[in-house]
Amino acid sequence: MSIATAEIRLDKNVTSFVKERRKLLIDGQWVDAASGKTFPVENPATGEVIAHVSEGTKEDIDRAVKAARRAFESGAWPRLSPSERGRLVWKLGDLILEHLEELAELESLDNGKPIAVARAADVPLAADLFHYMAGWATKIEGNTIPISVPYAPGAKFHAYTLREPVGVVGQIIPWNFPFLMAAWKLGPALATGCTVVLKPAEETPLTALRLGELVQEAGFPDGVVNIVTGFGETAGAALAAHPGIDKVAFTGSTEVGKLILKAATNDLKKVSLELGGKSPNVVLRDADLDLAIKGTASAIFFNHGQCCCAGSRLFVQQSIFDKLVGGVADEAKKIRVGPGLDPKTQMGPMVSESQFNRVCGYLESGLAEGAKAVAGGGKRGDKGYFVEPTVLVDTKPDMKVIQEEIFGPVVAAIPFKELDDDLVKAANDTIYGLAAGVWTRDLSKAHSLAGKLKAGTVWVNCYNIFDAALPFGGYKQSGWGREMGHDALDLYTQKKAVCAAL
Ligand code: NAI
Ligand code: MG
Repeated sequence: MSIATAEIRLDKNVTSFVKERRKLLIDGQWVDAASGKTFPVENPATGEVIAHVSEGTKEDIDRAVKAARRAFESGAWPRLSPSERGRLVWKLGDLILEHLEELAELESLDNGKPIAVARAADVPLAADLFHYMAGWATKIEGNTIPISVPYAPGAKFHAYTLREPVGVVGQIIPWNFPFLMAAWKLGPALATGCTVVLKPAEETPLTALRLGELVQEAGFPDGVVNIVTGFGETAGAALAAHPGIDKVAFTGSTEVGKLILKAATNDLKKVSLELGGKSPNVVLRDADLDLAIKGTASAIFFNHGQCCCAGSRLFVQQSIFDKLVGGVADEAKKIRVGPGLDPKTQMGPMVSESQFNRVCGYLESGLAEGAKAVAGGGKRGDKGYFVEPTVLVDTKPDMKVIQEEIFGPVVAAIPFKELDDDLVKAANDTIYGLAAGVWTRDLSKAHSLAGKLKAGTVWVNCYNIFDAALPFGGYKQSGWGREMGHDALDLYTQKKAVCAAL
């Protein structure tokens, strides 16, 4: 199968946006990096440079943190009523919907994901997240608490709790859902009244910068949202270690999550982490086979497998193994791989050369160790970073392809005999615990297995269902804290107990 090439004509806002050298958003102004340096952004479908973006470093992070601190402590932001704050967040959601096509094109160009997916999922989900969080701004409540202090007999008190914003937040996000991750991070921070320094991934900085323009258009006061593009080891590390930050929120690799945590120990910043995964997807013999084939294929191939929750270990009951895995392999072979901006494309390129090499390296290691590819197995084409949708069988539990997060379109299918403790043990046998899937028509089996899987999300007869109201996060080394839903508010607020003698 060849790589599709008929790309759409880009929105004029997109072409003009990428033409101009992009600056940093600090204190309501678009400014050059202190060093004056920029770095190139690539189109992963071709490897060509599409834009130049300011390379923020420690000095820029410091300026941004100071601006965020000023905006948090004084000025218009802390004086806004919850309702006014909520309306600003809502307006940001509206502006995103108004610019849906433009944002989807920019995301597809920068990240490589299919334009159809960016239009249907990334951008509308981001808008919905802001709309959902806007409603919370007026509902962040404390309690009144009847207390009975034993050493103050007869005394009366009025005791209550307040939930206050945690303060200035540093947010570091990855490249797999660049725009949506910016929304997951900014939405709850803004709804709760925090101020933010956001560092997008160096691979995909463009939509976050465009979002910065929409933040200004919505009318957020200067310094509430600051956006500093730059590299992880410089800008990211400076943000995680900055003493002026009260909390760091990170999404990315488990390895870097641990570095963030170390950096935060100096001054005991609050930390929330959304990290890697190696999610088990379990198909029982009574499952609706057509549904399970399509569902388990999309569980791994959606977003080219560049999903922290990708269903990358497919456990299939022995009696249906050949049929189900054959079906998934057929689905893999049917996927139209091509540039994200071709409307017919179903799977785009890996986001970068290094990610492409990483995924190809895993494929080589798996095949060298004795795994067999029943679909795909290598790269596709000579230009861009395309990898074939791949289904591996004959793997062993200790292989790298089974233990480590590949973050590519590669699933390992593993047979099991019975739904027993051995299956549960195998499904839970990784350092991760982000998500899991169960496919069965038997309600009792579905819910009892859901209870035994060590994962922050379990999908039953579906996969990759996300909603602004549904909390998402990891067990084990997949992270700390839950994003989305009202749980996300806990990450950005702290509770104050007030006790007054009457
Ligand atoms: P990464 O964890 O290095 O990058 C994520 C973000 O962290 C980026 O904004 C990056 O600039 C920043 N960062 C990197 N080093 C940092 C440091 N020392 N201090 C502060 N910030 C830092 O992920 P990378 O290298 O892009 O991908 C490697 C692997 O990580 C992938 O193959 C995948 O397995 C995993 N990953 C998981 C993601 C998830 O959603 N859970 C997202 C991206 C990658
Ligand atoms: Mg890295």
